[in-house]
Amino acid sequence: MQRKKIQIFDTTLRDGEQVPGCKLETKEKLIIAERLEDLGVDVIEAGFPISSPGDFKSVIEVCNVLKETTVCALARSVEKDIEVAASALKNAKNSRIHLGIGTSDSHIKHKFKSNRDEILKRAYKAVKFGKNLVNEIEFYAEDAGRTDNEFLAKVCEKVIDAGATILNIPDTTGYCLPNQYGKKINYLINNVPNIDKAIISCHCHNDLGLATANSIEGVINGARQIECTINGIGERAGNTSLEEVVMILKQHKELKLDTNINAKLLNSTSKLVSELMGMVVQPNKAIVGSNAFAHSSGIHQDGIIKNRETYEIIDPSDVGVDESLIILTARSGRAAIAYRANKIGLNLTKNQLDKVYDEFLKIADHKKEISDHDLSSIINNTCP
Ligand code: KIV
Ligand code: ZN
Repeated sequence: MQRKKIQIFDTTLRDGEQVPGCKLETKEKLIIAERLEDLGVDVIEAGFPISSPGDFKSVIEVCNVLKETTVCALARSVEKDIEVAASALKNAKNSRIHLGIGTSDSHIKHKFKSNRDEILKRAYKAVKFGKNLVNEIEFYAEDAGRTDNEFLAKVCEKVIDAGATILNIPDTTGYCLPNQYGKKINYLINNVPNIDKAIISCHCHNDLGLATANSIEGVINGARQIECTINGIGERAGNTSLEEVVMILKQHKELKLDTNINAKLLNSTSKLVSELMGMVVQPNKAIVGSNAFAHSSGIHQDGIIKNRETYEIIDPSDVGVDESLIILTARSGRAAIAYRANKIGLNLTKNQLDKVYDEFLKIADHKKEISDHDLSSIINNTCP
C-alpha cells in the first residue's frame, strides 16, 4: 500500500525566530529559507509581517528567492494584519495566510474578554476577508490543546465554510498527552461535517517534552500536516522538531506515512540553523546532536564494531552524518582500542593490545576522553 504524504510546514523563521537571542537578519533568513526549500519542506512560514518592518521585508524577500515552496505569513484575526500579510506575500508562487484566534475558554475570557459566539463570528469574518487575497488560508485555533472539543469542532466547521482549507490545531501550551491530542484530531475528523474540504495540521509545543509524540499521534489519527522547526527551537521549550518527525515516519514504515524531506540534508541544515541563530544543539538531541551516533561504553562499542545495527536504528549516512563515532573513555574495551588504533594506521597484535589496554585504563580513569593523539602516545610508549 502506498504511503500517505504528510506535509511538512516549517516555522523556524517564525515560531523559531521568536526565541530570545535567535533574531535573524533578512539575509540570514534567506539562507535558511533556500536551504529549507532544498530540504524539501512543503510550506515555509516566513514571518509575521504586521509585527515589524523587518519581518514584513523578510517575508517579501523570502517570496522572491523561493522557486516553488508555499510561503506562509502569520496574522491575527484582524483585517489590518491580514492585509499586511497579503501584501508581503504578493510575489509568492503559492501564498498562504496563517490566521486565527484563541479558542480555549482561558483565551476567550482573559485575552479577548469575549464569549464563544463572538469568537466564532470573528474567526469566520477573518477567513472570509483573507480568502480572496492569497492562494490559501490556514486557520489556527490557538490553545486548541485546551479547547473544549465540541466548541473546537464548531469553530472548524465555521472557518471551513468561510474558505479555510487547512485547520491548525495547536497545542500552544504543550499541555496535551499524546493520547489526548490524538483523540482530539480523531474527534474533529468524525464531528466536523465539512472536514472533507480541509486538512488538519498539528502544531505542538514541547513544554512537557511531548511535542514530537503528540504530532506523531496527530498524524496517526488523520492529520495531514506537521508544523515544526529545525532543532525543535521555538517559544519556551520549543516546537516539534522537524528532524525527529521526519525520521520517525521514515523508520516506522508500518505507519504508511511519509514526507518529501531529503533526510540526507538534516544534519547540515541543523548545523546551519544553529550557527546562524547562535543556538547550540544539545549533544544528546535525537538525530542531530553530536552524540546521536557516538558510542562510549565498551559493551555498545563491541556490538557496533561487529554490526552497526546492534545499537543504531538509523544509518548515520541517511541523515548526512559521515560515520558512527567510537569514543574512547574509561568504559571502553579492547575492541574499541583496536578499532581506533586501526583508524590511525596502527594494527596491534593480541599481546600489544593487552599491554596498551592496561596503560590506557590508567590514563582514561583521569581523562574524560582519549584522543587519537593520546592513543598514539600510549601505543608508542607501550610497544616501542
Ligand atoms: O503555538 C501557537 O498556537 C502558535 C500559533 C500562532 C499558530 O504558534
Ligand atoms: Zn506555536
